[in-house]
Amino acid sequence: MKKEKVTIFDTTLRDGEQSAGASMSVEDKVSIASKLDDMKVDVIEAGFPFASKGDFEAVEKISRIANYSTICGLARAQDKDIEFAGKALLKAKRKRIHTFISTSDLHMKYKLNMQRNEVIEAIKKSITIAKKFTDDVEWSPEDASRTEKDFLYKTIEIAINSGANTINIPDTVGYAIPFEFGELIKSIRNNVSNIDKAIISVHCHNDLGLAVSNSISAIINGARQVECTINGIGERAGNAALEEIVMCLKTRKDKLNYFTNIDASKIATISHLVSTITGFNVQPNKAIVGKNAFAHESGIHQDGMLKNANTYEIITPESVGFSSSELILGKHSGRHAFKVKLNDLGFEFTDKKINQLFKKFKDLADRKKQIYEEDLLALIDDKGSSSKKEYLELMDISISCGSSKKASAKIKIKILDKIKILKKDGNGPIDAIFSALKNVIPNKINLLVYQVNAITKGTDAIAEVSVRIEEESITVLGQGSDLDTLVASAKAYINAINKLIVKRDKLKDAKNKIFESNEKIDKHVI
Ligand code: KIV
Ligand code: ZN
Repeated sequence: MKKEKVTIFDTTLRDGEQSAGASMSVEDKVSIASKLDDMKVDVIEAGFPFASKGDFEAVEKISRIANYSTICGLARAQDKDIEFAGKALLKAKRKRIHTFISTSDLHMKYKLNMQRNEVIEAIKKSITIAKKFTDDVEWSPEDASRTEKDFLYKTIEIAINSGANTINIPDTVGYAIPFEFGELIKSIRNNVSNIDKAIISVHCHNDLGLAVSNSISAIINGARQVECTINGIGERAGNAALEEIVMCLKTRKDKLNYFTNIDASKIATISHLVSTITGFNVQPNKAIVGKNAFAHESGIHQDGMLKNANTYEIITPESVGFSSSELILGKHSGRHAFKVKLNDLGFEFTDKKINQLFKKFKDLADRKKQIYEEDLLALIDDKGSSSKKEYLELMDISISCGSSKKASAKIKIKILDKIKILKKDGNGPIDAIFSALKNVIPNKINLLVYQVNAITKGTDAIAEVSVRIEEESITVLGQGSDLDTLVASAKAYINAINKLIVKRDKLKDAKNKIFESNEKIDKHVI
């Protein structure tokens, strides 16, 4: 029997960004989108253009760079939302507008304050307007899994008659269980007269830990598009994880007669990118991309693995882009080997950039015996030591601390062109460093998140630090990596302050540029 294609619709940049504390900058979104495009994601939901200037800009920029993927913008059933989405997508080679409205009695009554007939009129109108911008229109009945069935069928029929070519069934609150959700998809196929004119999609949230199972059950029952995110990030408990769905279909092709176009060997790199950009570490036992997903600890397992890897491994680490050869380069490796390794990892840099990175690599190799692939990725990602001119630059740092004395930090820093020495005591070394640094800008900064991740094994592993700070409702994520956790922390905090300053200025400049109407939109109205 011929295999059927399942379309992969990635919403890391939209629903994923709605994860509490996970806002991404426009540049971050563009770099994630470019990797999603490379890995052959069919549709990238790049944002919700009416929600904020940043979202509009991100969708617009991603539309320009995507080669393979269809770019999608989200819009509520409101004229302005749809217009903004249409405008942001103007330059996309392939574009889709995704419009939605709630259909469950609960949402209609309490959230929308609308009657059923008003919702039906809104569906017709919103899809008709969206069709003026693109033929590719997706429609979602929000809270579908809790919507009264006959009303759900009716709204879907009307949406298809109005021009929607993809009907997405969201389990908005992650309430469904697999057999029930599969039944729902089957019943839609049996009860909506024109359903053959549209693709059925599903969008499952993970509140009960069933998002991937529900998505697979939906595929078995006729869904041919799944909406998902890298690392499963998303609103509340997140969305179905892209990597789990793709690898489930691939690994169990004996039972699941479907395929996707995803290049699975890119999974490890993009998972790492999303984790560093959002500051959300991947839990070690997370399927497919967790640090322990391919680690075998017990003696019995290790013995089995040595005799035949199939004994305890159903997926090879290489198939999702993790390298099995751990030690990759050392102190004596030359520039050529370094360049080849970067190419193997999928990076193409100019000679100038390679020279800069090679210098950093040599410095690292002098201080660290074994260099792993992850060390190289951290070196490339090191946002805490950018080569462009920054407001603040770390020159030197020394810390004194111990169990019987107060921690103190002395930091030599360049503020534009002036060198300054900052000194501060604190409740521990990190508190001392951050207290010293936050004095360089007058406003009050709140630290929202501080996270340390050891990139490789051993006590000489590179530490990758992420901090999220807030100043008067602007939040930014800063990152830094170094062999020394305290230096990495200082770099991350400085990186965040530099971003804060840029963001503040941009906000001032951007006023009235796109949003002349000065409308205030709550980004989390969904
Ligand atoms: O969870 C949800 O219902 C959504 C819709 C906008 C599809 O994210
Ligand atoms: Zn959602």
